[in-house]
Amino acid sequence: MSTVQQRRGFLSLITRCLMSVLGLSLAVPALAYFCGPLWRKPGEEAVGGSLRDVGAIKDLPVGEWRLLSLETVTANGWEKSGARRHSIWVRREAAGDQAISVFSPICPHLGCPINWNEEQAHFLCPCHGGIFNGQGQLLSGPPPRGMDALEFEVRAGRLFVRWQDFKVGVRERVPVKV
Ligand code: FES
Repeated sequence: MSTVQQRRGFLSLITRCLMSVLGLSLAVPALAYFCGPLWRKPGEEAVGGSLRDVGAIKDLPVGEWRLLSLETVTANGWEKSGARRHSIWVRREAAGDQAISVFSPICPHLGCPINWNEEQAHFLCPCHGGIFNGQGQLLSGPPPRGMDALEFEVRAGRLFVRWQDFKVGVRERVPVKV
């Protein structure tokens, strides 16, 4: 075999290797996109897991309750549906990303939205007068338990919250699938 033929063979091999790497780099994400829904259970949230970015920690004023919102999307296979917007009560107790509390605003009695009363420094449910303290614990009224805390994480200075519905009207905190 001549030197020229050897060079051609070598260049051809290199080209095939590069094309294979390029093909794989395009195929893997495409396969993950198309096949991902096959492994997802019905009703499970799509894209990015269920922790949602609700904003920068530095934007939360220290010592104040803030009503923020997040959106969830459910998916059955490839079909994404049921985008829902939820409100959440968030408070940062001190500077930095420590001492953060996140509560669902849904009253555990019958599901009315709970409001923060700044003057009285407690949460109040307008429907039947349920009252909760600043830590979400039940003070008085018909709710069978305190407010439902939500799971969260702080990543790179941003707050990520996992929305969860809970069964209302019962003493125990029972997560409900939507
Ligand atoms: S729904 Fe909140 S007290 Fe009844």
